Amino acid sequence: MLIQKNMKLAEVIHHDHTLVPIINRFGIHLGFGNDNIAEICRKHKINIDFFVTILNAFHDAHYFPQKQLRNFPAALLIDYLQKAHHYFLDDKIPEIAGLINKMATEYALDKTTIGLLSNFFTGYSKELKKHIQYEEETIYPYVLALEKAQAERNPDKNPFVRVNNFSISDYETQHENVEEKLFDLKNIIIKYLPEPKDDKPGYRLLRELFTLDKELNEHARIEDLILVPKVKAMEKALKNKKE
Ligand SMILES: [Fe+2]
Ligand SMILES: [Fe+2]
Repeated sequence: MLIQKNMKLAEVIHHDHTLVPIINRFGIHLGFGNDNIAEICRKHKINIDFFVTILNAFHDAHYFPQKQLRNFPAALLIDYLQKAHHYFLDDKIPEIAGLINKMATEYALDKTTIGLLSNFFTGYSKELKKHIQYEEETIYPYVLALEKAQAERNPDKNPFVRVNNFSISDYETQHENVEEKLFDLKNIIIKYLPEPKDDKPGYRLLRELFTLDKELNEHARIEDLILVPKVKAMEKALKNKKE
C-alpha cells in the first residue's frame, strides 16, 4: 500500500501500527481524530510531502523515491533524524534495559545469564550512542555547513566546510558495525542462553530487539541512501564552484 496524503491517518495506523513512533516524531500524538494526512499536517505545520515520503520509506523497504527525498532541505532531514536519535537513546534503550532487569527479578534468571545479557546490551548501547554522537557532532554539522555554503557566493569563507580533507564516504561503513552487534545480541538469546523455565521473557525481549532492529535499519537506510548521496552531490557541486 502506498500511503497518500488524502488517506485518513487513523486508517494508515490500522494498516501499520509500527508507524506510531514515526508520526510522534513529527509532533502528532495518538487521539488525532478522523482527519486525513494533509489536514493533520496543516494543523501541525508539517511539510506534507516530506511526512508522506518518510511514512512510505518506513512502511515499505522497497519504496524509495530517492530523488524526491534528496530535494528536501538537509535541515529538514536532519531535524527528523535527530528526533529519531532521541527516541532510540531516551526511550528504546532504557525500555529494553528495564525489560532485562525485570526478567532478572520476575523470572529469577540465574546470575550468569542475566550478567551476560546486560553486559552485552550495555556494550551495544555504548556503541549505538557513540555512533549517534559522531553523527550529531561531526556529520550533521558538516552537512548543514555544506548546504549553507552552497548558497554562499564564496564558499571558502565558510569555516566549517572541509570538502578537501573530509569526505562523507569516510562515514559509509559505520552502520554495518552497529547492526552486527544487535544481531549478535539476538543470537545470544536465540541460541546460547541456558534453556529457561519460562519462554515468555525471552520472547518479549526478542520482540523488542527485532522492533529496534527494524527501526534502526529504516533510520540507517535514510542516512545511507538519502543523506549520503545528497551530501556527495553537494560536495561535488561545491568543488566545481571552487575550480
Ligand atoms: Fe542516525
Ligand atoms: Fe546512523
